[in-house]
Amino acid sequence: MQRFRIRGGRTLNGEIEISSAKNSVLPIIAATILCDDECIIENVPMLDDVFVICDVLKSLKVNVSIDVGNRIFRINSKDMLPLDLSENLIRKMRASFLVLGPLVSRFGKACIYMPGGCNIGLRPIDLHLKGLAALGADISIVNGCVEIIAKRLVGSNIYLDFPSVGATENLIMAATLAEGKTIIENAAKEPEIVDLAVFINGMGGDIQGAGTSKIVINGVKKLRGVSHIPIYDRIEAGTYIVLAAITKSKFSIKGINEEYLNPILSKFYEMGLDMDVNGNEIFVNGDSDLKPINVKTLPHPGFPTDMQPQLMALLSITNGASTIIETIFENRFMHVMEMCRMGANISIHDRVAIIEGVSKLTPSTVKATDLRAGAALILSALSCEGESEITDIYHIDRGYSSIECKLRKLNADIERI
Ligand code: EPZ
Repeated sequence: MQRFRIRGGRTLNGEIEISSAKNSVLPIIAATILCDDECIIENVPMLDDVFVICDVLKSLKVNVSIDVGNRIFRINSKDMLPLDLSENLIRKMRASFLVLGPLVSRFGKACIYMPGGCNIGLRPIDLHLKGLAALGADISIVNGCVEIIAKRLVGSNIYLDFPSVGATENLIMAATLAEGKTIIENAAKEPEIVDLAVFINGMGGDIQGAGTSKIVINGVKKLRGVSHIPIYDRIEAGTYIVLAAITKSKFSIKGINEEYLNPILSKFYEMGLDMDVNGNEIFVNGDSDLKPINVKTLPHPGFPTDMQPQLMALLSITNGASTIIETIFENRFMHVMEMCRMGANISIHDRVAIIEGVSKLTPSTVKATDLRAGAALILSALSCEGESEITDIYHIDRGYSSIECKLRKLNADIERI
């Protein structure tokens, strides 16, 4: 099992390039199923999760050609077959469930294993299924498999009890080729939803209102291939902003969209972090005196849950008492135990974390419990003198492309062993 060995305590310098957003690329790759022409996706991040969803498409006989050097994916599903998806692929990555909507839309049927939960929560799919039923699908759960039959999908009004990102994406894709108009109310407003709508509209779809809580999809008959460059990864950018602050470093981060990053920037401004945004670049002066803050994770445009562990790492060495309330996932505090192993002073009360800032952390061997927790532990390890090790780093590879190469460009002492 690979691990990272990190020697922290030094300030970093240089420049970071942000990759395209994992959580944008995954639904966009799923959406290529909706047409039988070649779609080209550029600047694709080389992430394990991206390769897993491509394996899912390949298992359905979709033609996926990957130009690793230029990070260009050419995907053509003209010869694809409505085969059953293998359980291990779905269990390997929950986001594979995003092929459900496109499959039903294209073939009128789908049979997919329940994605199951993960470390951060049960991750139910009731909203996905309720929405598909509203569009006229017959749904049954047989032997852990979701079996969906829909001779044709007919547009309908759908109200999401919770603005679920995945349910919004699956239902947008299912409604794209349905007959008539679909309205999704209380839809997720994340930037990745907007990017998916831009991609599908580029194929000839008719999606209005993405990025707001009311999305209107007018079904179309056929889609054509399109070429697309996904948006930057706002969570990766936020992770590197924390890196500058936690190591008291000064460096530039290239590849940001200020509007999408605002829910994250607003908290750092509140802490007193000195940042200068210039177009799609941000310069962070981590040598700022930071104040403790209180944060609640919320659906966009609230503070994103995917930045919660990274912010906690910074607050753990910010003088004073801070609180984080995690409202999205019921079990997203597993990194707390690992941070306490490094000397953090954090207590948990149900969904509330109380963080008493300490002057510095101490190196230790810690375990990545999920993708963002792993990234947060790298930040903690880089903030303190001495040698730390992080195990189970496969979680990190799922969402951060070659993170040690990017960190070494900033003069960080990190090696994969
Ligand atoms: C997406 O997951 C992201 N993943 C997650 O990022 C992110 O944390 C999450 O959205 C929230 O922003 C991808 O985009 C691939 P949800 P998703 O459906 O779609 C409940 C990362 O680190 N819910 O918005 O699964 C659910 O239990 C990952 O990159 C239902 O109750 O998130 C959870 O409490 C982690 N019923 C809440 O909604 C449903 O049918 C948010 O889930 C669906 C969801």
